[in-house]
Amino acid sequence: MTNLILLAGMILLMWSGVRAMAAEGEGQRSVFEISTARSMITFAVGSDHRLYQLGYGSRQKKPEIPEKLPMPAYDGAAERLSEVYPSFGNGYLLEPALHVTHADGDTSTDLKYVSHTVTEDAGIATTRIELKDPKHPFQVTLVYRAYVELDIIEQFTEIRHDESRAVTMHRYASASPVFRAKSYWLTQLQGYHMREAGLVEEKLTPGVKLLDSKLGVRAHQIRTPGFFLSLDQSANEESGEVFAGSLAWAGSYAFAFDLDFNNGLRAVCGINPHGSQYHLQPGRTFTTPAMIWAWSDRGKGQISRNFHRWARQYSLRESHKPRPVLLNNWEATFFNFDEAKLVSLLDGAREIGSDVFLLDDGWFGRKYPRNDDRQGLGDWMVNEKKLPHGLSYLVEQSKQRGIDFGIWVEPEMVSPKSELYEAHPDWALQQTGREMILGRWQRVLDLNRPEVKEFVFNVIDKTLKDAPGTRYVKWDCNAYALQPGSTWLKPEEQSHALVDYQFAVYDVMRKVVEAHPDVMMMLCSSGPARSDFASLKNFHSFWASDNTDPLKRVFIQWGFSHFYPAQSMNAHVTDFGHRPLKFACDVALSGAFGVDMDLSKRSDEERKQLAKTIKLYKEVLRDLIAEADLYRVESPYDHPRSVIQYVAQDRTASVVFVYQVKNAESGPVCLKGLDSGRRYRVTELNLPEGTKSSLKENGQVVDGKSLMDSGILPPCNQELQSVVIHLRAE
Ligand code: GLA
Repeated sequence: MTNLILLAGMILLMWSGVRAMAAEGEGQRSVFEISTARSMITFAVGSDHRLYQLGYGSRQKKPEIPEKLPMPAYDGAAERLSEVYPSFGNGYLLEPALHVTHADGDTSTDLKYVSHTVTEDAGIATTRIELKDPKHPFQVTLVYRAYVELDIIEQFTEIRHDESRAVTMHRYASASPVFRAKSYWLTQLQGYHMREAGLVEEKLTPGVKLLDSKLGVRAHQIRTPGFFLSLDQSANEESGEVFAGSLAWAGSYAFAFDLDFNNGLRAVCGINPHGSQYHLQPGRTFTTPAMIWAWSDRGKGQISRNFHRWARQYSLRESHKPRPVLLNNWEATFFNFDEAKLVSLLDGAREIGSDVFLLDDGWFGRKYPRNDDRQGLGDWMVNEKKLPHGLSYLVEQSKQRGIDFGIWVEPEMVSPKSELYEAHPDWALQQTGREMILGRWQRVLDLNRPEVKEFVFNVIDKTLKDAPGTRYVKWDCNAYALQPGSTWLKPEEQSHALVDYQFAVYDVMRKVVEAHPDVMMMLCSSGPARSDFASLKNFHSFWASDNTDPLKRVFIQWGFSHFYPAQSMNAHVTDFGHRPLKFACDVALSGAFGVDMDLSKRSDEERKQLAKTIKLYKEVLRDLIAEADLYRVESPYDHPRSVIQYVAQDRTASVVFVYQVKNAESGPVCLKGLDSGRRYRVTELNLPEGTKSSLKENGQVVDGKSLMDSGILPPCNQELQSVVIHLRAE
């Protein structure tokens, strides 16, 4: 039996590549690795028993093992710059990963390596590294899940203690890896409402660069919770060593990039420490959100493909389910609708072949009817003036037209002008004794309160039960936490309010999914202001922007494609920007396609064009795009056109989208990712009725090698022209 256990232990150790090393003069120390197919993090336990990171990067390049670890620095001190999870207060002077005040008032923490274990299950190797403070009964477990084939490592931290009373955690990062290069190029996805996910890249200079959000709720409005870090050169699609990280957290976050005097870079990533002091009681474990890391030495394109594959398998709800074509009424009517109007929209939805009719904001409120955004949130009863026969009637009308019915809710919010607020003013997050500050004329409900958590679940549960047959929910969230105090939490727990809010939101999301497993859900927050991988586990897609001008969407979708796969990004054809319908359709085709228009106001020809596009989407493109690898071939930031290409994983099919964003002639597009040994039939898709393709290769069979080496010349040179080209292996 003992032998068996020993053998199992050895297999685990061999699998993870743990090496025990005898270091001259310094006694025994161990070096061990966490590896994926191509990447590797190497750790070593120093003679001081602290855990150091020797390297993170290519598996081919084993880092040198220093003769002494920690290396001597100056004044007899040890060089601890590469400590894996550095803590404040006992010799570490740079940006720490952990900063706590212990029960006895000690502001210092020092973590020493205790042990680690590795387990493997279905292509995921989980390493748990135990660290402990020798002075206090205080422990930290660093957890790494290596998704071996995808070169993705998920990392989070568990913190617990058995001190005499609560420990105050000031900072408790999820991860804080160290990178070593001559220079570092940081890319963020930055913006604001209506101009999200703009790529901004800069070369890091010494000091701490902070990318963060302090918005609390709707926290990603100004910045997506992820970044790319390119070593030694500005990030490139196809070559170079690049890392990327994404925090699976819907709340405030911080990524602190500390470029030290030694030119080493540490990225401290996790919940934003600002306003998040957490008092951890003895015996409780605090689990940080996960940081998802990707590495590639083939540029950021490969990283995105890995993120997409990973998300589809592990972090996007039911990625195999075809995303329905929605007809949403928001931009078609805003708040201005009644039953007859909605039924007429349903007729249009049927005519073009939509799968779901999604009724947006404005359907509820009695005493304070929701006829604009100034009132009514919280009063989730049907406004009978607008909808005298209730939601069930609309479900029925949809069914009669072969369409599913979907509904918009914003369950975490309350308008001060609402019956809910009149009954429960203490249910909103607030700073007692201060004048109320509103955002979009609303407040955030306090999910720390058990009855509020129950209420938020019931908003969705009851809405779905009262209108049985409803198959789709758009869950919105449109205000920041401007006054993040809680009338429920004790005075000393006030700084928990936003942290525990997020844990509560995730609980409610999961409960809704469990209660309504067949209802599909869209994640929305004034567009994509909640777009993290933890939320997406419960959602089929997210609303990528309230800006549906297709010209702007080319850039927005380009930005989000760095992390999120195509079928997770809702992209709708609307009147926004009054762009040519073909251009609007072609842009929406590269996401989860939908329409937001009053079709009775469009010509027969336009309705036909939409119907044709939807048919094409469902029959040819939807499944292909949902499983394909994305190649960003030409960036709209650097070129007059944007070219993206999806290639089926078995390389038997591909689709290329070309969007002209400026007037200019360009040369041929050299395609990517095809099988050079195969021949592909080239077909231009989505041509308006009566027009012929002017693509030279249209209808021809061309070998993969020439498509990639010599390319094809898309017939467009004017802003707002677009071309969709399909390739099918013969
Ligand atoms: C937010 C969403 C929109 C729409 C409105 C309704 O702004 O992003 O799509 O649902 O709310 O008020």
